[in-house]
Amino acid sequence: MDWAAGDLPERDLYKLLVNTVLPRPIALVTTVDAQGRANAAPFSFFNVFSHAPPLVVLGIEGRDKAPSPLKDTMRNIRETGGFVVNLVDRALVEAMQVCAIDFPGDIDEIEAAGLETAASVSIAGPRLAASPVQLECRETVSLSLGTRHRNLVVGEIQHIHIRDGIVDERLHVDIDKLDLVGRLHGADWYVTLRDRFQAPRQTLDGWRGRERAADAAEGEAS
Ligand SMILES: Cc1cc2nc3c(=O)[nH]c(=O)nc-3n(C[C@H](O)[C@H](O)[C@H](O)COP(=O)(O)O)c2cc1C
Repeated sequence: MDWAAGDLPERDLYKLLVNTVLPRPIALVTTVDAQGRANAAPFSFFNVFSHAPPLVVLGIEGRDKAPSPLKDTMRNIRETGGFVVNLVDRALVEAMQVCAIDFPGDIDEIEAAGLETAASVSIAGPRLAASPVQLECRETVSLSLGTRHRNLVVGEIQHIHIRDGIVDERLHVDIDKLDLVGRLHGADWYVTLRDRFQAPRQTLDGWRGRERAADAAEGEAS
């Protein structure tokens, strides 16, 4: 089956894209507003974009409901210019789900999720102490795309925190200790990093050698 993207209603585009571009990493993003009130919300339209400069990207949708067409995360990034990407491990999933609830403004979702915070080094928003990797970011640019207050936020990483015991002195990361989850299909499916395989990168010489060996084997057989 194939479709022209422009012919698909928004709802169907969402279905096809979020159920095929898989798995997606999850950023549990913490921010503060201009009054210093903290906020946390998960985003899986998220990835690291480059290491030099060290950039992350977030895709933040608009909101249909009053009081603001912007989600609190986007509004806070506009107000303070900073945010923290807290990566989500298996142990953090339930708290992350609480942070995704559209709470009224008077409820502190970080407290409701039972999460402890730690002060950031380089930006105003807090970090989540329970997250194995916390990336303090400064907004470099945000592009307002589409008609419904969708924003693509680009942030430059200012400071990296990784829980002790995950990285050794040679900067090798223990993936099992990291235990991150990714977002899968449908509304509620997630994946861990436990099903892995190795596919060594090929060289041109190695590929040519295998081609020659295959040709030679074919010649001998005929
Ligand atoms: C796993 C997960 C991933 C999500 N990813 C996104 C996303 O990429 N973009 C988005 O706009 N909303 C996403 N959401 C929904 C937001 O987290 C939700 O709207 C949240 O209430 C926004 O909070 P805020 O208003 O405090 O920023 C996601 C929710 C979950 C559970």
